[in-house]
Amino acid sequence: MDLWIATGNKGKLEEYKLTLNKYPTVRLFSQADLPSFTPRPENGATFLDNARIKTKSVKAMKAAEYVLGEDSGLEVEGLNNLPGVHSARYAGPHARDSENVAKLLKMMQIRNVATRAAQFKCTTVVYTPENEEWIFESVMKGTISPKVSGLMGFGYDPVFIPEGETQTLAELGPGYKIQKSHRALALNQFINKLKEKNPEIFS
Ligand code: IMP
Repeated sequence: MDLWIATGNKGKLEEYKLTLNKYPTVRLFSQADLPSFTPRPENGATFLDNARIKTKSVKAMKAAEYVLGEDSGLEVEGLNNLPGVHSARYAGPHARDSENVAKLLKMMQIRNVATRAAQFKCTTVVYTPENEEWIFESVMKGTISPKVSGLMGFGYDPVFIPEGETQTLAELGPGYKIQKSHRALALNQFINKLKEKNPEIFS
């Protein structure tokens, strides 16, 4: 089967590839494989709204295929769950990951937060070839480190320490993330549902 991933984020795409490359019958494509693709503005109020916007934008060009898209972000308890849906643009519309991380650490210092608890949330939307909509929600809990550590991954990985760990995601690396991350948990729910519907894909 062909599976189209509605993302322009290279870090996310690498994580999907690492998991899905185990299945030789699944051929993976992304919006980068569509020469005339133009992303739509992610102006939804929720992760679900934005996940639908992204997934529908690819589905409009690949109506007969499975299309998967997700929206995710970091919710920090001491910052009233910010940056949330604004995670990619926390420090400005074209902010780099390092700028978003710097703003996060600065805001936590200014607010003198009582807790460093945080969670990544992910809402994944899949449109099937029959145009059914499947929704998968998942969470990874942890804390925000007071300083940046590690070189792997993307986004807030250098400051996020998952529950039960002492290192950041940027130190733990992709092998850890494809087992335990918010996105991996949602992807596994999708794979299980696909296995129920089309066992022949995985036989
Ligand atoms: P999106 O591509 O609009 O869904 O933006 C999600 C943003 O949330 C990313 O740009 C990151 O800043 C953050 N984010 C989501 N998932 C992760 C992750 O696994 N690690 C680090 N940051 C993440």
